[in-house]
Amino acid sequence: MSKKPLILGIESSCDETAASLITENEEGFPVVLSNIVSSQVEVHREFGGVVPELAARSHIEKIDWIIKKAIDESGRKIEEIDAVASTAGPGLIVCLSVGLSFGKALALALNKPFIAVNHLEGHALSPKLNSKLNYPYLLLLISGGHSQFLNVQGLGKYKRLGTTIDDALGEAFDKTAKLLGIEFPGGPQIEIFAKKGNPNKYDLPKPIFNKGGCNLSFAGLKTAILRIIKNIKTDQEKFDLAASFQNTIEQILYKKTKIAFTEFEKRNNLKKKIFVIAGGVAANKKIKSMLLNLCNEKNYKSIFPPTEFCGDNAAMIAMVGLEKYKLNQFNDLDHPAKPRWPLDENAPFLKGAGIKL
Ligand code: KG4
Ligand code: ZN
Repeated sequence: MSKKPLILGIESSCDETAASLITENEEGFPVVLSNIVSSQVEVHREFGGVVPELAARSHIEKIDWIIKKAIDESGRKIEEIDAVASTAGPGLIVCLSVGLSFGKALALALNKPFIAVNHLEGHALSPKLNSKLNYPYLLLLISGGHSQFLNVQGLGKYKRLGTTIDDALGEAFDKTAKLLGIEFPGGPQIEIFAKKGNPNKYDLPKPIFNKGGCNLSFAGLKTAILRIIKNIKTDQEKFDLAASFQNTIEQILYKKTKIAFTEFEKRNNLKKKIFVIAGGVAANKKIKSMLLNLCNEKNYKSIFPPTEFCGDNAAMIAMVGLEKYKLNQFNDLDHPAKPRWPLDENAPFLKGAGIKL
């Protein structure tokens, strides 16, 4: 039996401190030996959003025992680790620095290679943790900070087909939740509210629905919700607004994903059409089932990560580490933390106003 690599992944880019050990089986499929995630929700709740300084402090307080717990639960010994992979960006620099420095120090102490991982690449590869997934594939990455369609051609080979021109989808969920009086982090709560409401009660805007290819825009929804919320009196009306918001998002994603399918097919000579969703919002069951139906309609194989790998975690960081380890793609210990680190470095920076579509 050949010795399989044992990779430690470390994640601290925002408000989750996480560590995971993964290896692979004889057939070359990843095996998650431990996956520890410690959320800071309680630290930030009273502020209604992530406070960078408090987040960094919390990472510093927890990182030692999170990593120790990940090693203990894996049933393996620290000396057996073959490489350490840490998130190096994008994210909050004060937070990134904690996991990155810890990972570098541990790699140095163990005399093992260090791998700097792009957090978004972690999300992009997260479905590989429990499914066989071959390149190329179309990825819809929907998280708190990003919303993009990417043509994934291989490890490190990403071509952006579309992106949000203002808010990220998770941000839109969180802002809507805040307006509805739901405590931070509100995104997942919207899904619960929406179950009790009428999705056709309110007619909300669908920005750039008929233009801009598969680019996305969500900021207009927030403004519309702000206007409606002023006249809302009952809980039922709140449920109806949450349901109408989620329904509008479904319609936007349905249309834009169809456009992305066409763009993806134009750029690849495909034997098999594969569609992957990843990121925190991919945990939304309503969105997931709508996209699943679209895949059936358009003959796409859908590969969606299980909920535990949708939100931020370190197993997905270790997954990138494992792929890079097998290709001997290591990094020097002076690799910087990168607050901004797009997957497609050549795509123009679109966030903000003033873009012509
Ligand atoms: O990927 P993630 O954990 O962190 C980032 O890298 O951003 O994504 C977090 C985002 C938050 O905005 C959160 O509200 C959203 O994902 N989210 C959801 C759901 N679960 C998490 N949004 C809608 N429905 C959900 N069930
Ligand atoms: Zn994330």
